[in-house]
Amino acid sequence: MSVNRTSIHGQWSSRWAFILAATGSAVGLGNIWRFPYLTGENGGGAFVLVYLACVLLVGIPIMMAEILLGRRGRQSPINTMETLAEEEGLSRHWHLLGWMGVIAGFIILSYYSVIAGWTLSYILKTGSGAFIDADAALTQGIFTDLISDPKKLLLWHSIFILMSVVIVARGVKNGLEQAVKILMPALFILLLIMVGYAMSTEKFLEGISYLFIPDFDALADKNLFSDIFLPALGQAFFSLSIGMGAIMIYGSYLPKESSITFSCFTIAIADTSVALLAGIAIFPIVFSYGLEPAGGPGLIFITLPIAFGQMPFGTFFGSLFFILLLFAAWTSGISLLEPAVTWLVENKNMSRVKAAALAGVITWLLGIVTVLSFNDWAFSFSFAGSIKENGLFDIFDILTSNIMLPLGGLLVAIFAAWQMSESSTVEELGLGEGRAYQAWRFAVRYIAPAGVLIIFLNATGLLNVFSS
Ligand code: PHE
Repeated sequence: MSVNRTSIHGQWSSRWAFILAATGSAVGLGNIWRFPYLTGENGGGAFVLVYLACVLLVGIPIMMAEILLGRRGRQSPINTMETLAEEEGLSRHWHLLGWMGVIAGFIILSYYSVIAGWTLSYILKTGSGAFIDADAALTQGIFTDLISDPKKLLLWHSIFILMSVVIVARGVKNGLEQAVKILMPALFILLLIMVGYAMSTEKFLEGISYLFIPDFDALADKNLFSDIFLPALGQAFFSLSIGMGAIMIYGSYLPKESSITFSCFTIAIADTSVALLAGIAIFPIVFSYGLEPAGGPGLIFITLPIAFGQMPFGTFFGSLFFILLLFAAWTSGISLLEPAVTWLVENKNMSRVKAAALAGVITWLLGIVTVLSFNDWAFSFSFAGSIKENGLFDIFDILTSNIMLPLGGLLVAIFAAWQMSESSTVEELGLGEGRAYQAWRFAVRYIAPAGVLIIFLNATGLLNVFSS
């Protein structure tokens, strides 16, 4: 059956507009803040290797499936799932998948915004020259001062939520294209400059081998599934913005004739390169200045300022870097709100402005939990072989990226490859029925679900593939 719906929320002007917006969603704090610190906590090379495998084998096929569903349904993820399920003669309970995504979006944005707030604060700190000639002790002290002050964190968090609400209220399609077109390449170039600095440090090679050569001895006391595979899988979902409807809603604005495959590979390559560059820039600094790779969520805020304090024009490059990182976070933040806002517009008859404001208030309130996780409410626990020190923030983060997103992705894969008729996916992907289509279908039918399930079951101890 040929389906030709249009979205009441509009459409991207071209395939490139979609690629830019989706890259804007994918590239963000996940690449530059989360990827390096998780790599450091989870022992380096082995984690990176598994992460890359997850992106390729699980992430890309699921991303294609999610875009395909979005474009076919052309509504908020909740209504898209309901419409498609009805059309395919399936249970309307599939809309719960959309709901899980909306909830995950609220939780992720609630803490994402607090971290984006650190970035805001670092624009000013770097710009004021606070890091000139700073050593590790000083950058560590400045970071600790910031996170121990809930009032400051709340202020920056509020500003970031407001920034995101304003864009979503205007409609994510206006202006986003232009911003991403200029700012993403600029961020990329600045990362290259940082890599240049990293090359000048004594321990460049040590940093590189830490990142790319798995250290099997360090794995001896780890549980491979819960300590390496699960966090790597979660990071793949988080970084590609999949499993919660963000890419689905962006896909719902994609013109019918645009290639989903080409778009996905472009987005995934851009996303992965930014993460790897961030790692290459950061680990040499970590080792050269005697810092701990497992330093936790403060890692980039403690390491990069040392570099900015040393390099020529560091004050300028440093504030520019945090400005660009803020933009990268901004273009991700708006995509976290979009699924909820479109649902409110469709089902509650709200204007976009009201819907965005309501969603903003919910995330802002929830964000207070994260603000306090770094100070008054801080508590520690052990997870994935490392100590997590920031209580509820860590729990939010683990719950969403390691559980909700992979579960959402698993259900997307099951829906697209096991529930929908083959003819619907053939039609929507537009690859014909040849090898490329069969490869995708095999990946979403078997590889991606098996990957997620095997990791889930082993990590929770329900299954023991490599029990010793
Ligand atoms: N991918 C974004 C990042 O890496 C975060 C994000 C996750 C955005 C999930 C949307 C959905 O920063």
